[in-house]
Amino acid sequence: MSVELETATTDQRPAGNGVHSMEVRDVHKSFGPFDVLTGLNLNFVDDAITTILGPSGTGKSVLIKHLVGLLEPDRGEVLIHGQNIWGISKQERYELRKRFGVLFQDGALFGSMNIFDNVAFPLRKHTDTSESDIADIVMDSLAEVGLEQAASKLPSEISGGMRKRAGFARALILGPDIVLFDEPDSGLDPVRTSLLNDVILDMHSRHKGTYLVVTHDIRTARKVSDYVGVIWKGKAVHYGEAEAAFNSPDPFVRQFLSGESAGPLGMD
Ligand SMILES: Nc1ncnc2c1ncn2[C@@H]1O[C@H](COP(=O)(O)OP(=O)(O)OP(=O)(O)O)[C@@H](O)[C@H]1O
Ligand SMILES: [Mg+2]
Repeated sequence: MSVELETATTDQRPAGNGVHSMEVRDVHKSFGPFDVLTGLNLNFVDDAITTILGPSGTGKSVLIKHLVGLLEPDRGEVLIHGQNIWGISKQERYELRKRFGVLFQDGALFGSMNIFDNVAFPLRKHTDTSESDIADIVMDSLAEVGLEQAASKLPSEISGGMRKRAGFARALILGPDIVLFDEPDSGLDPVRTSLLNDVILDMHSRHKGTYLVVTHDIRTARKVSDYVGVIWKGKAVHYGEAEAAFNSPDPFVRQFLSGESAGPLGMD
């Protein structure tokens, strides 16, 4: 099988100051004998929504953990706002992490806290905002994701789609300039996925920021992407404007983005 192992760079607009908010340079990561990231290069376009697609087990969640500094590369660099996150102190890395909004694959709301307290949590932990201001901010944010009626409910008392939206509200509550979503659509039916995608687009157009959405759902990718990246066997094999990706002549990209079983991509 021949796959063009090159990251497209031609259509990436540099940020105003020439620094990308997120950059991954030649990152390698192995777990024991398993080489997961094998020289990953990605230069995310600022203030755009990039979706990352790729087969299961190809290292998408591992990429997200590298971007937030939860995993350290064996080789290569992760740059956030131009800073190598492993070239700074632990405290600085911690400060940097506050600028991220992250929605992990497994949701991760606190089960014993109601939705209000879940969304308020980062404000209480990282800021000295008064409780009355917290109430205003959290209720505004719940209204934005259509959950103002669910504030006093526990995560177990609301649907999967509502939990995702609550996780989204929590991820955005500190006004992050980078937002990472690991499969926001997993476990949701097509209608709820579509509604969640509307919320993602709406929040992005209101608050801006550099968004990275990992998804398996081609419809999600079609709906929300400004840019599309494809990861395969630990490398970025494609990164470019969504429109071009969906019309790509590359047989691998075509097969992956159309979800067809025939093509160069096998089950190995
Ligand atoms: N902490 C870890 N220790 C050991 N192996 C790990 C660890 N984290 C991830 N892996 C392995 O790395 C590989 C890539 O995992 P990752 O979760 O990034 O895949 P993915 O692309 O997100 O897949 P999916 O689409 O199914 O979520 C898998 O084989 C996984 O078992
Ligand atoms: Mg994953």
